[in-house]
Amino acid sequence: MVHIKYVEADGRTHEVDAPEGWSLMEAAFHNGVEGIEAECGGACCCATCHVYVDERYLDKLKPVEANEDEMLDCAAAERKATSRLSCQVEISAELDGMVVNIPETQI
Ligand code: FES
Repeated sequence: MVHIKYVEADGRTHEVDAPEGWSLMEAAFHNGVEGIEAECGGACCCATCHVYVDERYLDKLKPVEANEDEMLDCAAAERKATSRLSCQVEISAELDGMVVNIPETQI
């Protein structure tokens, strides 16, 4: 299991142990983390699963692909250097200990 800490916009935190292969979105959904809407169910076509990932882990993530890049431009909250769509980030052992911040709004 991989330990991920989610921080909701109001500061509430969720310490989650998730299996490798799940996405950050799936792990949040199955552990009651609020603020990730994921309206399209992970098909990379809604941008309501936008999160800010831990910058210490940026180089451990697969690069943003073209369709994720386009959708991030449509996200409701400000796009930052650490912005990712949580449905497109696969959990791996390398991400153990990562902190994921959830933006104030997804719609
Ligand atoms: S769930 Fe829709 S883009 Fe991630």
